[in-house]
Amino acid sequence: MRLKIIGSAAGGGFPQWNCNYRLSRGAWNGGTNFRPRTQSSLAASVNNVDWVLFNASPDIRQQIAATPELQPPENGPFRATPIRAVVLTNADVDHIAGLLSLREREPFALYATGRVLEVLEGNSIFNVLDRSIVDRRELKIGAQTDILDATGKSTGIAVDTFTVPGKVALFLEDQTKAAEGFGTQDGDTIGLRLSSKGDVRSAFYIPGCARIDTALKSKLERADCLLFDGTLYTDDEMITAGIGTKTGARMGHISISGEDGSLAALMDLGISNRIYVHINNTNPILDAASAEHAVVVAAGWKIAFDGMEVRF
Ligand code: MLT
Ligand code: MN
Repeated sequence: MRLKIIGSAAGGGFPQWNCNYRLSRGAWNGGTNFRPRTQSSLAASVNNVDWVLFNASPDIRQQIAATPELQPPENGPFRATPIRAVVLTNADVDHIAGLLSLREREPFALYATGRVLEVLEGNSIFNVLDRSIVDRRELKIGAQTDILDATGKSTGIAVDTFTVPGKVALFLEDQTKAAEGFGTQDGDTIGLRLSSKGDVRSAFYIPGCARIDTALKSKLERADCLLFDGTLYTDDEMITAGIGTKTGARMGHISISGEDGSLAALMDLGISNRIYVHINNTNPILDAASAEHAVVVAAGWKIAFDGMEVRF
């Protein structure tokens, strides 16, 4: 399987349009330590012909422009795409807004949990994707789903769907239910195990995760590759940076560092290929010269950049 991380930043991207914090500033200034990154998305293929997108970011047009594999095949029909399906891991803006750019009556299949499909259903703007052309299909939690194209032909990729601790999308938070996760329910945030038929190897894609519990840990033990939530380095970094009031815990994102952080929690699992994705523009690992970048790399992690490829 080929995995291409086409967008490695969290919501807002890097640099973020309105951000003057030192990291975005470094990127605006073209500093060599501050590689720009688009918003969170992954492309996968087992045959180099049929591609599946995992999440559709607001930067999708730019991501397709930067990724020849995702462009209409040369000598193909006047309207064509190698993107056979889009699979969503939650209903966050950075993961669904790109669907709006995939209009123009092109057939593909759209997969998400019942909860996320409800969000699309409830926002009529997503009707720009005509349902007779773009079939919406439910991902059942705890089940394996073969990802098929619009005609029902297999892409060769299967996903195992499981819930991870997380939070309902920001724009759906119910303030009257603050004590109960702002109305978060199962299916609002999922993790995926990607595999292909007849191959025991697998990659896990978990761009949003609030906590690493024992259930998640034991699942990940068998991973050949892990693409994991690298939103924040420190839980309170947006507050200490002076640019926000929320902790990572409040946003549904575990931090990298600290006793309960992902670095410590996933240290002993023996996953050879561990990659941080969905990196927020406050995370110091975005500065390639930072101590935090060095700590993460020394612990055996890679820091995703746009265009990073993994083959397994
Ligand atoms: C998140 O990952 O927490 C969200 O994408 C934040 C947002 O909606 O901006
Ligand atoms: Mn996000």
